[in-house]
This record gives sequence, structure tokens and C-alpha cells, in this order.
Amino acid sequence: MNNIIKTIHTNKLKKGMYIHELDCTWINHPFARNQFIISKQDDIKKIVDAGIKTLKINTEKGLDVVKNKPKSIPVKTNPNLTSQKESAAPKRNNLIQMRREAKKIKRHAEHAITTIMSNVKLGQQVEMELVTPIVDKMAESVLENHNALLGLSRIRHMDTYTFEHSVNIGVLMMSFAKYRRMSPQMIQDVGVGGLLHDIGKTLTPPEILNKPGKLTDKEFIIMRRHVVDSKIILEKTPGINQNALDVAALHHEKYDGSGYPDGKKEDEISQIGQMSAIVDVYDALTADRCYHKGKDPSVVLKRMLSWTNSHFNPQLIQEFIQCVGIYPPATLVMLSNQHLAVVVENTKNILLPRVIVFLNTKKRETIEPKLIDLSKQEKLKVITSESDKNWNVDPQKYLDMI
Ligand SMILES: [Fe+2]
Repeated sequence: MNNIIKTIHTNKLKKGMYIHELDCTWINHPFARNQFIISKQDDIKKIVDAGIKTLKINTEKGLDVVKNKPKSIPVKTNPNLTSQKESAAPKRNNLIQMRREAKKIKRHAEHAITTIMSNVKLGQQVEMELVTPIVDKMAESVLENHNALLGLSRIRHMDTYTFEHSVNIGVLMMSFAKYRRMSPQMIQDVGVGGLLHDIGKTLTPPEILNKPGKLTDKEFIIMRRHVVDSKIILEKTPGINQNALDVAALHHEKYDGSGYPDGKKEDEISQIGQMSAIVDVYDALTADRCYHKGKDPSVVLKRMLSWTNSHFNPQLIQEFIQCVGIYPPATLVMLSNQHLAVVVENTKNILLPRVIVFLNTKKRETIEPKLIDLSKQEKLKVITSESDKNWNVDPQKYLDMI
């Protein structure tokens, strides 16, 4: 593992970094805690004013020191690995690196959202300076190969649902926008919107937000209020634009007009709003919540397709399925030779992803985990997706092996 604790000079400090240790005794510094995320420019000033020259940061919990490289986003013309004739080894190393980087980005994003939400709860504004560097990183990763971040979106912890859901919506919106060939600026905007779309939930009473069981009609009215609150909070945020606002304001509107808060329908909902409604339902149904177990992505996609003429724009839902694949990264699948595998990434043929095979179910024998590109195999194909809970398998374990 890389060094996650780094000693840096205070002149390298910036918002979003996580202080692991200030290079002074606790009594000499003006903070209540020794470890915290820098959420305000003022925190940096306080550290410098306290005469602290060096300190330790944790690069897993916050931003790393900026490396001197060009700021532009590396847009690759064809990120689909299957069409490139490379040897297996560099491809594998590349995937490992991308997954490592994606994990780090996801952790940073969750920390940033946690900080932003607790600041908003205290009545503070959303600080775009905390959001922008994260979205820049996410955009880099998504534009390089969105499978790395998408594969991580299946890791869920019930107690941190709102933060993880926010990051997932950011990742899914950016991947979807990239798939639809939207501009890099638009990809950034929907990433910001995705990360902040549920910021209004900071005002929802926790007993309603985390209620295990069905909400009463009265509670549901209060729950729905988070959309209007998100909009109000974000409208007051300096530096936010209309595209990001649309994600927050429209993610519960439905194509047939049965959504909320305004019951808008069809073209009254912007394209970004229509995309966010699809992404929000997909992530909510695949997640484990306090009141239901998450469904497997392919089951959820099938169910969403059956609602096509009511809840979602039929054209967009097709495009979304093409984007995430029938078998999204980290899905467990049964192959035609009865081997069990985990999906690593999609190929041009969404029915034939790249997978890691690890179990011969006929012989009930584990096999040496092996990366296979099904789109390049003549005979092998996916028969069905399988529930990782039923097989008691953690797909991430195998993804980490590649
Ligand atoms: Fe929401």
C-alpha cells in the first residue's frame, strides 16, 4: 500500500485535506480535535497563524498534495479496452491502478460529502471549493474508464447510505453523461449535481430518514420536502450552475407526471432531470436499506424497463442500460460452462462483458481466478446473473485480485 500518511509543509495545505497530526502539541493549536478535514480557508490561516510549519495529512481520508501535472481532463477517444490490441499484462496493471485510484476517489468523495452535509446542518453554506476538486478527480476517472468507479458503487453500508448514494449518483450521472457524449463541462456539472442532489436531507428528521419500515402519509410528505430544500440550499450556493441544480430539483419527477415536487412531465423535465430520475431509482433499488435488501443490478434494470412508459423516458432508459450494461461491473454471473464469474467491465457487446472466473459450480471446485474477455470467446457466454448473497460471495474480493 502507498504511504497514506504524508508530512507536508503548511504552504501546500488546501481545503479538502485531512489533518492526521499537527506538528505541535495539542495545547498549542486552536482546534478542538487533532484530526479533522480542512473545510474552510480559515482553518489553513489558523494553522499558519499558530506557527505550525509542517504537519501530517491522511491521503485516504482527504485530498492528496497536488502533483505538478497539466490540469486538463485526459479525454480518451476510445476507452473501450476490448477494441485495443494490447497484451494482457499492461491491461491488467492498468485495471488494478484504475481501481486503486477509483477507491481513493470514492473515499475522498464520501468524506467531502459527510463534511459538507454536517456543515449545512450547522447552517453553513455548501462550499464549492470542497466539491470541485473531487468532481475533477471523478471526471478524470470516469473519462478514462467508468467501469472502475461503477464497480465500486455496489459496496454499501446501511449507516452511511446517504453519503454513498450521493457519491454513486455523481458517478452514475457522469458515466451516463459521458456515454451520451455530453461536453466535459456538462459531465462536471452533473457530477456536482449528483454529489449534492440530496443535500436537503440534512433538514429531514433522522427518525424519518432512517425509519425501518414504510413511511406514513404524513412522514412521506416531510420526506418529499428534501427536494425543495436541496433546491433552496443549492440556489444559495455561489458557483453552482443550472445543470447541477436540475439534478437536485428534478430527480424525483417522473416522465408521466406522477413524480414530485411539481408533477412535471415529459419535456417539462430537462434531459438532465430525466437522466437523474433513472439514475436515482437504479441506485436506490440496488442498495441495501434499513427497510429492504438491495436487488441485483440486472433484476433492477429489467424492472425499470417494465416501467418505461410511465416513469422514465423510454429512449433514455435504453441508453442507460447500454451505459451500465445488462451486467454492470461487480455483478456475479453464471457462464454457459457453469463457471461462476464476476463482471469487471463492459465491452462493446453488453451481453459479453470482461469477467473474472473463480468457481466451477459443476465440480464445486474453486479455480484460479482468471480474467476472460467474453466478447473474444467463441463459445462462452453469460447465462444469467446470480445473487452474491445467495452464493455468499463478495465480488469486490475478486475484483481486487486482478
Ligand atoms: Fe432524493
